[in-house]
Amino acid sequence: MIDKESQSKYSDQIQREKIDPGEGMRPLPWIVTLLLGAMLMWGAFYIVVSPTGGESSFGDQRTLASLDPKSSSSGASQIDGKQIYIGKCAACHQATGLGLPGVFPPLADSEWVKGDQDVLSKILLHGIQGQIEVKGAAYNGVMPAWHTLSDGEIAAVITYIRSDWGNKESAVAEDVVKKQRDLTKARQEPYKNAEEIRSGT
Ligand code: HEC
Repeated sequence: MIDKESQSKYSDQIQREKIDPGEGMRPLPWIVTLLLGAMLMWGAFYIVVSPTGGESSFGDQRTLASLDPKSSSSGASQIDGKQIYIGKCAACHQATGLGLPGVFPPLADSEWVKGDQDVLSKILLHGIQGQIEVKGAAYNGVMPAWHTLSDGEIAAVITYIRSDWGNKESAVAEDVVKKQRDLTKARQEPYKNAEEIRSGT
């Protein structure tokens, strides 16, 4: 049994108890809030005022003009001859255009590349299997035929090989290739020697 006196003693003790402390919400110090706000505003301001599109040296060097297909002039030049060269020819003739001595002839400074456009078109259209001389050295390999490429694509790639690695020959028009394709359409097999390439159909 608890008597009156001890009962009030206990309730005093209970009264003195406090609630267990817990983790409450604590607001950010105002200086942090202020700093965050300032950084946010500076960020937005920076995006708005920093120049865009003008300075190509920060990017891949291409300007808007060079990306516009309408700004390049004739038909063939819209096709990237260098791209075709890298994809289809560089494996043999090398990215340097120097070929591999004794195996793949050079295109740099080659009399075939720098010479007659009709002959060059014919080489691309039908390929070569036999012996030819390039810059005084004999080659006896297989140059594949590229008649599956369009006239425009062949014109673009031969225009490219005539203008890189020190070659400075004129561009080749799509019509030149088209004409040779028509003239030689009966041909079923690659050319066998220089004579055939120059005079044959
Ligand atoms: C599989 C290897 C190979 C590929 C791919 C190839 N060629 Fe050739 N190319 C040769 C060989 C080999 C010869 C020499 C043929 C011979 O020895 O009878 C040659 C000869 C030539 C010639 C005449 C000789 C000279 O050096 O000037 C030209 C021009 C030419 N190739 C251009 C091209 C172009 C352009 C492409 C891409 C569309 C191409 N070739 C892709 C192997 C290749």
